[in-house]
Amino acid sequence: MIWARAEGCRVTLADGRELLDLTGGFGVAALGHRNPRILEAWREQEVVHALGDLADAEVTVRLRETLPRPAKLGVTGEDAIEIALRTALLATGKPGIVAFDGAYHGTGLLALAATGLEPFREPFAPWLPGPVHRRAYGEDPGALPGDAGCVIVEPVQGRAGSRVPGDRFLETLRRRCDEAGALLVVDSIFCGLGRVGEMWPGDEVADVLCVGKALGGGLPLSAALFYRDGLEEVWELGPEDVYTHTHTGSPLACAAALVVLEEVPRLLDRVHEAGERFEQAGWHGRGILRACAGSMDEALERGVLVVPAGLDGSLIQATPPLTISNTELDEAFERLA
Ligand SMILES: Cc1ncc(COP(=O)(O)O)c(C=O)c1O
Repeated sequence: MIWARAEGCRVTLADGRELLDLTGGFGVAALGHRNPRILEAWREQEVVHALGDLADAEVTVRLRETLPRPAKLGVTGEDAIEIALRTALLATGKPGIVAFDGAYHGTGLLALAATGLEPFREPFAPWLPGPVHRRAYGEDPGALPGDAGCVIVEPVQGRAGSRVPGDRFLETLRRRCDEAGALLVVDSIFCGLGRVGEMWPGDEVADVLCVGKALGGGLPLSAALFYRDGLEEVWELGPEDVYTHTHTGSPLACAAALVVLEEVPRLLDRVHEAGERFEQAGWHGRGILRACAGSMDEALERGVLVVPAGLDGSLIQATPPLTISNTELDEAFERLA
């Protein structure tokens, strides 16, 4: 499948077929593909690439000032997770990670260690860092192991198939972390920035909260936000930033992020409304992070783009742009019926 054009919630393939896109490109296109305000923000930039951690562009500084907490910026989602887990090690001195079954945190070795999906982990098992203590998602993990520097959790699990835990799950994790002197790392890379109807899901309990995907409006950008005061100081390790990338703080991605952070809060009511329509159509999940039984290939034949999800791949997942209209939703449900 080759994409020739993508606009709003529609994708045209190279063979001319038009599809209704319920993926939003893995949840990235929160404001729709080729959002005009984002295209304009890119066109206006006077600095396209600066000097990463040595010199921010002005627009990168503006983004830092706009984020709700001090943050260390990353490039991919996995990168924000790496920052968050390293922050826990630096802050606590304890290397252990408590993570959950069904978790997906990315494929770099440290994020992969915390990931709970065996097909991703198994080929690289000899190289995975740890110790990682795996617990059942949605359940009280009990007293944390003595070596645990953090617990990492998705407020709603994405790739595992839009799994929503019980109401008090995050509070329980907060309490377990407090008892053990561990940090709570909240991975809101998929579910954050409006997708489940909140900007920063888990912010009421997080020590570090990660966002990515939608943040850069289509360009790679992520952030680990430090909700516990002073955590950014654990990174003052010498004259050079010892965890950085060439493209850290990309001005184009930051310019798009400023548009995303301005527009998404206006769409939260719309997300709740669209979420209810999904619910009525038999899709489980929260907001517009949804899944139901089905096959990607069959959906494709009916002109709807979805991705496979679930622990056994038996689900299809919908993470459309937050701008999707009722007409487009009804069209998708009719085509899939
Ligand atoms: C919850 C969650 N965390 C982390 C990641 C990794 O992000 P990236 O693929 O940008 O590295 C993903 C990607 O799907 C994700 O869903």
